[in-house]
Amino acid sequence: MKDLIDSALEFSVAGSFSRIGYWTRSRLEGWEPPPGLAGRRILLTGGSSGVGLAAARMLNEAGARLVVTGRDRDKLETAVDALGEVGERPLPLVADSSDLDQVRAGFDRAVAHLGGLDVLINNAGALVDRYRTTPQGYEQTYAVHVLSSFVLTEQAVGVMGPEGRVLTVSSGGMYSQSLQTDMQAGEKDFDGVRAYAKAKRAQVALTQEWARRYPEGPFFAVMHPGWADTPGVRTSLPTFRRVTGPILRTPEQGADTLVWLVSARVPSGRFWLDRRERTVLRVPGTRHSDDVAAQLWDRVAADAAGLSV
Ligand SMILES: NC(=O)c1ccc[n+]([C@@H]2O[C@H](COP(=O)([O-])OP(=O)(O)OC[C@H]3O[C@@H](n4cnc5c(N)ncnc54)[C@H](OP(=O)(O)O)[C@@H]3O)[C@@H](O)[C@H]2O)c1
Repeated sequence: MKDLIDSALEFSVAGSFSRIGYWTRSRLEGWEPPPGLAGRRILLTGGSSGVGLAAARMLNEAGARLVVTGRDRDKLETAVDALGEVGERPLPLVADSSDLDQVRAGFDRAVAHLGGLDVLINNAGALVDRYRTTPQGYEQTYAVHVLSSFVLTEQAVGVMGPEGRVLTVSSGGMYSQSLQTDMQAGEKDFDGVRAYAKAKRAQVALTQEWARRYPEGPFFAVMHPGWADTPGVRTSLPTFRRVTGPILRTPEQGADTLVWLVSARVPSGRFWLDRRERTVLRVPGTRHSDDVAAQLWDRVAADAAGLSV
């Protein structure tokens, strides 16, 4: 019966992605709060707002030691001060994920502060409406969601043992796009929604690829939060928010699966929502071969190494 209800929700999209999905599944399955995470060392990007801030709060309450990143120093300081009233105050790290030099330096600072790393959470992200390039010459949607996550994952794999975890926050929006190996959107006819969906699709494929390349660990997972009412959604998708407002999830509901994945004993390389593995295909014509995923990985690795621009 539980599986039937879950499948019916998943089939309806709105039922699954909205707070209805979270509410029904959490009650049907009697979800437990995450176990204690005392001393787990976590680097969380984009922890000053929305889903990332909610995750930071939940992880902090569970006893984890955190470094959280963001661009806006004041917002980040306010967030960590509030977190510090409950648990250990996280280290706030001002770093723009679109600048790979800041990303690399920030990672080194985080690891030095924590004395190692157990979990990397690639959460920072935004849906932008204008074409902009980064200091390294990449379109910013690609740089923030794909390149930066790739660089951090590469660095994390270098310092973590097989028990380490890399978690990435994608989006249900990724279902609309097929995987492409050339992720660089051009300025002409730039479509921020399409660039965002393509980047989110790439995050899913790259997670599968990381897991394939590291069968002995670390553990890799990619999830989507459903539709959560966050400052990001308010700014980027005001019409969507107006229409769906009453059924949007809270940021905490959006972050639940992310926090669960910090300790869940499940297979590596999968795509998750509401504590269950989900299909990566909903739209006809979006299937890709393993070759395309491997080519994307090589292309992103070359971009990350500065070999392509
Ligand atoms: N909310 C949803 O319904 C939803 C649905 C699907 C997927 N997601 C994904 O969930 C993640 C969080 O989104 P959200 O809705 O919580 O957005 P949000 O409220 O705007 O929070 C985004 C966080 O990321 C940081 N950030 C954004 N761009 C950054 C950059 N270039 N460098 C460093 N930090 C950056 C922000 O800090 P600053 O403001 O200081 O830059 C902030 O802490 C994103 O990856 C998003 O794509 C959200």
